[in-house]
Amino acid sequence: MFENPQTVLIAGASGGLAQAIGAEIVRRHPQITLMTLSRITVDMIPGHTGERHHLSVSLEEAESIDIIENFMAEHSVPPDWVINCCGILHDDFHGPEKSLSQCDDHWLIQSMQINVLSHLHLARALDGFLQRRLPVLWVSLSAKVGSIGDNQLGGWYSYRISKAALNMLVKNLSIEWARKLEDSCVVAIHPGTTDTSLSKPFQSNLHPDKLYAPELSAKRIVDVLSQLSTAETGQLLFWDGSQLPW
Ligand SMILES: NC(=O)c1ccc[n+]([C@@H]2O[C@H](COP(=O)([O-])OP(=O)(O)OC[C@H]3O[C@@H](n4cnc5c(N)ncnc54)[C@H](OP(=O)(O)O)[C@@H]3O)[C@@H](O)[C@H]2O)c1
Repeated sequence: MFENPQTVLIAGASGGLAQAIGAEIVRRHPQITLMTLSRITVDMIPGHTGERHHLSVSLEEAESIDIIENFMAEHSVPPDWVINCCGILHDDFHGPEKSLSQCDDHWLIQSMQINVLSHLHLARALDGFLQRRLPVLWVSLSAKVGSIGDNQLGGWYSYRISKAALNMLVKNLSIEWARKLEDSCVVAIHPGTTDTSLSKPFQSNLHPDKLYAPELSAKRIVDVLSQLSTAETGQLLFWDGSQLPW
């Protein structure tokens, strides 16, 4: 049902996975209309020529809702696929916490803003443009460590808490859009540990077989998305398309 998108919107477009996913979609569907959202301008996104519809916006801010609505109003049809890649694990001063004593309120709040609100704001901005009879596939890049059922190790408080909250947002959205639209599929997906700036500081202990190139992860994710149907809505997926526990 979702295998031949005409218009794809990618949010967080400057990221390692976002760029690779965009390139993979364009490779498979050269005629696609690609809409991109990023904090930075399109000319600063490597490999992107500007031959696209781009909006520079910071999705973690509530003001982004109006800004995206105005951008969407310029386009005649809403996207068939929406892929939100926004997420943060560390910055120059913070990283995954090993214990309670390392937790910092401001970092948790910042993690919630980027990992959750950037997805909520985009959903709110698109909601008014969706049409009952037009199919929509929404994907949030989440993380296996945000699965409460799968958590055996603990730690990584801010990332786990915020990704678990993102997962609940995705579940709620799947229910609301299933009521509102005839054909919707709303999922979260774990891309696998991928060689991007997000995972860079944590790669040294990884077996090389467990660290994937962005191009490989993108191919796997686009494979999964192309095979989804409305029956799979409301799921947290592993990169091979299998279901993870929430
Ligand atoms: N790489 C992995 O191993 C891995 C594993 C599991 C899950 N994930 C998830 O996959 C998604 C993409 O990650 P990635 O590996 O491509 O990481 P990345 O290269 O660091 O990209 C991070 C993304 O987050 C967006 N973002 C928005 N506000 C941000 C802020 N204030 N600070 C930093 N980034 C911000 C960026 O978008 P703009 O700058 O374009 O606005 C960018 O697209 C994330 O949600 C991540 O949690 C990644």
